[in-house]
Formats: sequence, C-alpha cells, structure tokens
Amino acid sequence: MRTQVGIVGAGPAGLLLSHLLHLQGIDSVVLEIRSREEIEATLRAGVLEQGTVDLLTQTGVGERMKREGFVHKGIELRFDGRSHRIDLTGLTGGRAITVYAQHEVIKDLVKARLDTGGKIVFEAQDVNIHNFMAEKPLIRYEHGGVEHALECDFIAGCDGFHGVCRRSLPKGALTVYERTYPFGWFGILAKAPPSTEELIYTLHQRGFALVSTRSPEVQRLYFQCDPLDNVDNWPDDRIWEEFQARLATRDGWKLIEGPIFQKGVVAMRSFVAEPMRFGRLFLAGDSAHIVPPTGAKGLNLAVADVNVLAKALVAHYRTGSDDGLEAYSATCLRRIWKAQRFSWWMTSMLHRSPGGDAFQHRVQLAELDYVTSSEAASTSLAENYVGFPMD
Ligand code: FAD
Ligand code: DHB
Repeated sequence: MRTQVGIVGAGPAGLLLSHLLHLQGIDSVVLEIRSREEIEATLRAGVLEQGTVDLLTQTGVGERMKREGFVHKGIELRFDGRSHRIDLTGLTGGRAITVYAQHEVIKDLVKARLDTGGKIVFEAQDVNIHNFMAEKPLIRYEHGGVEHALECDFIAGCDGFHGVCRRSLPKGALTVYERTYPFGWFGILAKAPPSTEELIYTLHQRGFALVSTRSPEVQRLYFQCDPLDNVDNWPDDRIWEEFQARLATRDGWKLIEGPIFQKGVVAMRSFVAEPMRFGRLFLAGDSAHIVPPTGAKGLNLAVADVNVLAKALVAHYRTGSDDGLEAYSATCLRRIWKAQRFSWWMTSMLHRSPGGDAFQHRVQLAELDYVTSSEAASTSLAENYVGFPMD
C-alpha cells in the first residue's frame, strides 16, 4: 500500500491532519491501535480555544460543535471564599472559549474522514516506523492477523505521549524538558444541572477544584488529589463533601449535586521533546509535548501543530518549497513554550503543594488577588487562556 502521508494515531492531531490534507487534495492513511468505539468514548479535554473553534468551523467540521458546544465569555477565579470574574471576551477584543468535549470532536472528525472516503485503519497492531531519515519512509503494522507495509513520503507521529514514533528515534536525538507535579486531578461526570454559568477555578486550603460542564444535564468537575490515589477510596458522599468544602463561598453559593457516573485520576506533567522533526518524520501533539491540564491547552496545541504541518506539506506538494517543513519544529515550539509557561503558572498558582507552607499559600493568594484586580494581569491571563491566533 502507498500513500503520501502516513499518520500514526487517530487522536485530534492525527484525524485533523488527515482532514486538512484531504481538503488540499493530499492523500493520507491513519493507523490507530484502538477501535473506533474506544476512541469515540475516551473522556478527556473540554475547552476549545477561539483559534481551534475557528479552524474546525472554517474547514467544515464545526457544525455540531456550534450547535451543541457552549461559548463562554469569562471564567471565575475563586479564593478566600470569594469569586472574581475574568472577562475573557472584554479583555481580548472579542475572543472566547467553547466547551465541547474532545470525544465529540473525535466523532466529528472520524465521520468527516469516512464520509469522504478517508482511510483510517482501526485496531492496527504492532505499528513500527522505518527509513524516515531516507527518501522512502515505511510503516509496518498488523491488522486482522495480516502483516502490512505502508510506503509514504512522510510520517506524522500523532500517537500521543505513550506512542511508538517518539520512542523510535535514536538515543540522544531528542532533548527532553520535563517536570512532574506532586499531585493529580480526580475528575468526575455527574448527572446534574449546572451550578454556574462559567467555569470556576478554585484555590482552597484543601487544594484546587474546578467546576466545568458538558451539557444542561451533565457536569464535569475536578479536584486536586494525590497522583497515586485510587477512585475506590472515594465513595460519592466523600467526593461531594470535598467539592463542597473547597468551593464554599462567604455568600453561600450552592453546588448542585447529582449521581456520579464516571470517576478517574490523572497524573500531571510538563514535557517537551525537541526538535519535532527528524528527516521525514514529524511529531505532533502529545507525542512531542504534554502540559498539566490547568490551562486547558493540550488539545489546542495538538490542533495548532497540525495546522502548521498541513500548511507546510501543502507548500511542499504545490510549490516544491520545503521552507515550511524546515521551520515546522521552531514554529510550533514558540507556541508550545508559551503554553508550557502558562500551564505551569496556572498550576502553581492554583494547587497546594504537599509540604507547602503558609508562606507559599499567602503568596498564591496575593497572586490571585493581583490577577483579579489588575487589568494588565487579567488581560495576560485572558489572552493566554483564549489562545493566540493560529500561525
Ligand atoms: P491523543 O489524543 O493521545 O491521541 C493519540 C492516538 O494515538 C490515540 O488514539 C492512541 O490510541 C493512538 N496510539 C497510541 N499509540 C499508538 C501506536 N503505537 N500505534 C497506533 N496508534 C497509537 N486539552 C485541552 O486542550 N483542553 C482541556 O480542557 C484538556 N483537558 C484534559 C483533561 C484530561 C483529564 C486529560 C487527560 C487531558 C486533557 N487535555 C486537555 C489534553 C488533551 O486531551 C490532549 O492533549 C490531546 O488528546 C492530545 O491529542 P493527540 O492527538 O496529540 O494525542
Ligand atoms: C476542562 C478541562 C480542563 O483541563 C480545564 O482546564 C477546564 C475544563 C474540562 O474537561 O471541561
């Protein structure tokens, strides 16, 4: 089998890349280790930046997002028992975020690809990549008990943090920058009406909490926990008690509870592997970088990477110019490091470190006071949160 771009991984990065290339007449094949049902049911991100929303809309995959997603023009920062609104839209000349679950984006992209004859191989096993430093890259994999070889001009490694592409590089080829955090997020989905119109990010003595949403009937909430904690330690009553304690305000704000139907713990890390290109292999999304979720940047960075990559590949095939491909890694890394800084900063401002002392807590409160009372500081948060325009 032969294609122009062989894409490993059908996450947001791989699927969107395939879609963008298709719109420009470039052929690709996506190889995904999991089943369609699995990728369409994996719960992850929820916040889409303005640039992500615009790109999905302009390329014809934003229709359901426009109908079912929720545009938010502000967020609340809550500390010391009080809430403070950050007017995202007012402070950024009209930009906003949209709350629309990542697995819904995945469903829209899979449908768009399959409806237009796109090739996605689900349940591709033992994917391995070859010859990417030479002219003729090759991807081998197994499907339905049969060995396959896919010849291509380029390989896009969109296979997430635990994928095979980054690990196929020779030792020493990458410089890795990394930080792990001594806490994780406990996330739930609950059947309940919304308690708030906008997302609430809270710092409390007991740690961070976040109130997000999915629909008028389903709410998404997170609280800071031990990264090694287990959902079995948390019966529903204990979870609600923790949320109620962390989110309480002086004026008696009410968190509406409901049956919890999903629980999970995620660890938190910052990670960047540089560069993102080796010959004819391009890493994109979580395969090259991870951010802690506090800034809601991971999915949006994956989208931004493949936007740059698709444009560079189009230029290669249309004009023969490889300037875009040469610049791919540096172009992406400028945005990635800004998002790394922002995510690290939001995380540090809003979480309690185990062993953190009273001094640290007072500095965090002062920072939150500054961010919510200075227009300069709120503008900085707002422009990072809604995201910078696409390259
Ligand atoms: P992935 O989504 O990880 O996709 C990679 C794909 O490759 C997967 O389908 C995987 O099965 C496949 N694969 C892996 N290995 C192989 C292999 N060997 N062969 C073939 N296929 C393979 N980001 C935000 O922007 N906003 C948020 O609000 C947000 N919240 C989050 C909340 C949580 C709880 C979590 C866990 C993450 C959150 N993120 C958020 C991050 C976001 O989900 C990721 O950054 C995003 O999924 C990255 O997309 P990707 O396509 O690069 O990688
Ligand atoms: C959600 C996830 C995030 O990481 C975040 O910062 C805000 C919202 C969510 O899943 O809704």
